[in-house]
Amino acid sequence: MNRMQRATLGGKLSAVLVAAGSSVGLGNIWRFPYVAGNNGGGAFLAIYILCVLLLGLPLMIAEFTVGRATHRNAVGAYRTLDPRWSILGYNGVLAAFLILGFYFVVSGWTAEYMVHSVTGELGRLGSAEAYAAMFENFIRNPWRPLLYTSLFVLATHFVIALGVQKGIERSAKVLMPLLFIILVALAVHSLLMPGSSEGLRFFLQPDFSKVTPATLLVALGQAFFSLSIGIGTMVTYAAYFKPDTDLRRTALNVTILDTLVALLAGIVIFPAVFSVGIAPSAGPPLVFVTLPGIFNDMPWSMVWSSVFFLLLIVAALTSTISLHEVITAYLHEEWHLNRRAAAWTTTASTLALSALASLSLGVLNDWRIGGLDLFDSLDYLTANILLPVGGFFTCIFVGWCMERKSLRAQITNDGRLPFHIERLFYFLLRYICPAILLIVFLDNLGLFKK
Ligand code: PHE
Repeated sequence: MNRMQRATLGGKLSAVLVAAGSSVGLGNIWRFPYVAGNNGGGAFLAIYILCVLLLGLPLMIAEFTVGRATHRNAVGAYRTLDPRWSILGYNGVLAAFLILGFYFVVSGWTAEYMVHSVTGELGRLGSAEAYAAMFENFIRNPWRPLLYTSLFVLATHFVIALGVQKGIERSAKVLMPLLFIILVALAVHSLLMPGSSEGLRFFLQPDFSKVTPATLLVALGQAFFSLSIGIGTMVTYAAYFKPDTDLRRTALNVTILDTLVALLAGIVIFPAVFSVGIAPSAGPPLVFVTLPGIFNDMPWSMVWSSVFFLLLIVAALTSTISLHEVITAYLHEEWHLNRRAAAWTTTASTLALSALASLSLGVLNDWRIGGLDLFDSLDYLTANILLPVGGFFTCIFVGWCMERKSLRAQITNDGRLPFHIERLFYFLLRYICPAILLIVFLDNLGLFKK
């Protein structure tokens, strides 16, 4: 498929918005607080921010470059540049499939919480224990989460079916800024709760004595997950960017936005966690147990929580769309299915996987992969292994194998933009990023243990 046949996205703003739409999602608001809470708070945050700057930003630019240079899906893009590297695209398609397996489930929880907010049910419980019990009951139930997950999968399907331009662009444009505003309001409220300063200290004050090799890997994986990199999403999206989109600036803006949202989510969650006495290491339920308590404390709690969960649904949707698009574009362009068939194939297969992941928290909880249930193992395998591996090989490919001329042409828009940081960019991509990734991996395999 050539450039003319591909849809292009609107203006400059739209490139930032769709990429931010993919990045900002449950990764920031659900996953970030839970992994930060599990890994000691402040020190995790510091390492996370370093990972975002040193690895995330250069890699996002690198992925944009590959996508816009080829105008293809993740597999086709790498194949066009060098057939031996199409494996990198396959890694992305596989990761997108596995991520959707648990991401759809959490999106379903969000949808259920919105419904409970509207009906006022979420406001009726009083204590943190009651919210924890309600959440446990809900995720163990075999039917209800399945229903909401399926609805969410279908919603994603229909946005994809409407076409990249119309569906994605419109929803991202209006609702992302609104989510941001609500988060700021919640953060202010959370900071005013009694005993909040302890939570703030936990989140912002690093205690490096708690850092282990696993902390580094988890921070790195979270950075990749949150920025949607190492998986071909940004390759796939950049294929729709216009020739005059400034790739560096787009990546910088998306990275800043995404990190701000994660920071804000932490400032909303941790003060409240400490204020009501929940353990910060509660794991995946953390946000779902903490948030209702915050809302309960506010005037008009039903309105706040309904609007918040609605916006979270939209943020999740713009991310599931991008993951779905990685697989759909691949099936459409590489297998020559028409877009409809490609989208339905993706929808049906991810629905099946997410149904299993959802049941793995209840009736199928005995199924274990390396000691984890299916839900947790999909989360672990993708964020801590597939994305960093994808990121490592993306550095090697773009830093060492891709023609420098073609990379420069993309970054400078054929010479129209300056590229002052070219040397720094190459240095990071060729040496620093792969070295960090390799060391963190080897460290986790126990190679540096005395
Ligand atoms: N970045 C998304 C989030 O934070 C999740 C995602 C990961 C989307 C990888 C696309 C690719 O919610």
